Amino acid sequence: MSKFAHETVLSVRHWNDSLFSFTTTRDESLRFENGQFVMIGLEVDGKPLMRAYSIASANYEEELEFFSIKVPNGPLTSRLQHLKEGDQLLVSGKPTGTLVLSDLKPGKNLYYLSTGTGLAPFMSLIKDPEAYERFDKIILVHGVRTVSELAYAHYIENELPHNEFFGEEVRSKLIYYPTVTREPFRNQGRLTDLFASNKLTDDIGLPPLNPETDRAMLCGSPAMLEDTCKMLDDLGFQVSKRIGEPGDYVIERAFVEK
Ligand code: A2P
Repeated sequence: MSKFAHETVLSVRHWNDSLFSFTTTRDESLRFENGQFVMIGLEVDGKPLMRAYSIASANYEEELEFFSIKVPNGPLTSRLQHLKEGDQLLVSGKPTGTLVLSDLKPGKNLYYLSTGTGLAPFMSLIKDPEAYERFDKIILVHGVRTVSELAYAHYIENELPHNEFFGEEVRSKLIYYPTVTREPFRNQGRLTDLFASNKLTDDIGLPPLNPETDRAMLCGSPAMLEDTCKMLDDLGFQVSKRIGEPGDYVIERAFVEK
């Protein structure tokens, strides 16, 4: 098991019956870019059981944070959901992934488009000072089925704007747009429909999506990615085809089969 770092769980938070997040210690040698993922897991029957997880903490923070769904009978999450402070977590390998700011061409407005646990990499990216330097507005869209799935909403709306280092940038540049599909809420509907009707951009006072000025990062279910990519492609956005080749948008599948 020597190729894995053994980290210690520092805190666990259950958002509702199906979502939880946790923080762990971080090996000093672990380096990553905000938006990347890493393999994490537990030792089961003497063997490591590992899955990909986006890192929800920023790359300058001392602790690692992860945001997870609880999949009924999921080999890993059925165990992970019982994590307690002081438990050990395996963290393996080199972080990697396509949701990195360096693979976006310059632009004016940056859209972080997420559904479900696809929010995780954006929790890291909304704390990246470079993003606020590069873009005039950053719009975080989080689409979920029910209000209880709007994890981190309080933090995004009430704590991040008071960050001592970049709170001012957050207050002037970050727009948080949560939307719920299966319950009443102030914003309702799938993000694809909200863009198609221009409701979302009207609500936040920005012009309709435009590849000349806008950039996007996407993380959600395969169906969400397929429909959102199609929408962006039809508008003339160019996807970044591989790591290191900048485009108008980048995508990452939310890792859910756990
Ligand atoms: P809906 O309730 O209409 O299915 P899930 O938990 O299935 O990943 O869904 C998370 C959120 O993503 C839900 O609000 C869901 O809406 C929405 N969603 C599901 N499929 C798509 C899609 N193809 N495009 C946009 N949003 C989607």
